[in-house]
Amino acid sequence: MKIAIINGPNLNLLGKRETDIYGNMPFEQFLETLRSQFPGVDFHYYQSNIEGELINELQRVGYDHDGIVLNPAGYTHTSVAIGDAIAAIKAPVVEVHISNVHAREDFRKLSHVSGKSAGSIFGLGLKGYELAIRWLMDRP
Ligand code: DQA
Repeated sequence: MKIAIINGPNLNLLGKRETDIYGNMPFEQFLETLRSQFPGVDFHYYQSNIEGELINELQRVGYDHDGIVLNPAGYTHTSVAIGDAIAAIKAPVVEVHISNVHAREDFRKLSHVSGKSAGSIFGLGLKGYELAIRWLMDRP
């Protein structure tokens, strides 16, 4: 089973960035725990700070992966084009946010991604990625 994890802008700074909100663990370290937790899954990880690169990657993996876990970060709230890319591809996308976007600034309550995704998880920290993977694995 092939699952892609795609992280958007500033998530390369996890572990250093606003640790009160996003925690202390760099994503690469967390990825190691996912790889040992799910030995049957072939994980592909991609992070970019650039909107068009995220769209290119969604298009690239969107036809040959079994599922995509996507945290579009700040682009969630601004990018019609990322929403369009999710609608265009075949693989189911689970939107994940580490923080509870609904308990923060009003501009974070708008998502151009939720309506195009199979489902969304927010506010459960890095655990949200794990839950998204479990859901993708359990799909018939
Ligand atoms: C985030 C929430 C976004 O509002 C924010 O811009 C991020 C991270 C999260 O994972 O909680 O960069 O997607």
